Amino acid sequence: MSVLFEPFRIGSMEIRNRFVRSATTSYWSDERGVVRPEIIDLYRRLAEGGVGLIVKGHLYVTESGKVHPGMAGISSDAHVPMLKRLTDAVHEHGGRIVAQLNHAGIHSLTDRAGPSEYRGDGWEARALSPDEIWGLVEAFGDAAERAVAAGFDGVQIHGAHGYLISQFLSRLVNRRTDEWGGSLENRMRLLLEVYDEIRGRLGAGVPVLLKMNCDDFSPDGFTVEESTRVAEAICRRGLDAIEISGGGVGRNPELMARARSRDPELEEALFAGHAERIREATKPTPTALVNGIRSRRCMEAIIRKGVADLISMSRPFIREPDLVKRLQAGQEAATCTTCNACRSRTVFGKMMLRCHLEP
Ligand SMILES: Cc1cc2nc3c(=O)[nH]c(=O)nc-3n(C[C@H](O)[C@H](O)[C@H](O)COP(=O)(O)O)c2cc1C
Repeated sequence: MSVLFEPFRIGSMEIRNRFVRSATTSYWSDERGVVRPEIIDLYRRLAEGGVGLIVKGHLYVTESGKVHPGMAGISSDAHVPMLKRLTDAVHEHGGRIVAQLNHAGIHSLTDRAGPSEYRGDGWEARALSPDEIWGLVEAFGDAAERAVAAGFDGVQIHGAHGYLISQFLSRLVNRRTDEWGGSLENRMRLLLEVYDEIRGRLGAGVPVLLKMNCDDFSPDGFTVEESTRVAEAICRRGLDAIEISGGGVGRNPELMARARSRDPELEEALFAGHAERIREATKPTPTALVNGIRSRRCMEAIIRKGVADLISMSRPFIREPDLVKRLQAGQEAATCTTCNACRSRTVFGKMMLRCHLEP
């Protein structure tokens, strides 16, 4: 049997194979951030399709943390009952699911505020006060407790893609001169405080995961040297698993080439080169790699070569929720063409998440 289909352990949680459905917003929750039945059906299909671990699409921890219309929330107890139905549907089919906790920071729909004042293209954000920062740390803790009440098997802190925690990590966005900015130690303080708060609330038995950028791909942003040090610090603190992603505020697509591996077998995994470096610092913490992975050949090489323990994908599962069963039956690769129609402006927030490519 291929190593891809062997069970794996993340802290106290056993998952049935090496596949992770990376967090993917369905952008279809109601205006209060409550998930709709269509979203529960989607998660049921994913679990039926055999994926080991599902990371629920990002959930806002406070109203001000909402990124886009249709984003689901976990900022209030009113969010819990439908999330419980969603986790029940996953568990009925032998799946595991963790809640991805997020805050928009400077990308907020209602209150653009982050580490420092920031000027985007036609918009501005203000700097958070220290009291507001501590309030957000607490909000992540409250949200983590709600996640457990809603039946999630654990939580994933969203520390990637240019949202609040990733904004604090980045020199480009974080220009604070107090204890929350400046040195890397200060810039990673928010992440570590959020982690400690969640761990303190949930205890050692509930898995706490992190999705983090390996690189912001900005000349002035978070670099792989920095992400390696952050990964080492949080893994030493007892993190249960880390997912390596990339891209943040100020992303420059041309710089993405620096994250690639020279190994031809790993070519399609866009961040495999950076992951090889970060992996040295995260060992033995379970590590997942995401972005671009489509073929069995590449998936098996990632695990065989020790680049990561877990294969994480998003867009392929939009097209084929039963992808794991298909791969197990001999299909060589996901049929997702990475066309990105699933997140184009014409559909995002306007209809339920789906693949727009012909069958
Ligand atoms: C429609 C859509 C929604 C996404 N939502 C989230 C999200 O809620 N949280 C997150 O961390 N990443 C999100 N992502 C990014 C994916 O998790 C993943 O990192 C990225 O798509 C690269 O992986 P892939 O090549 O397997 O698709 C989303 C991606 C897509 C296409």
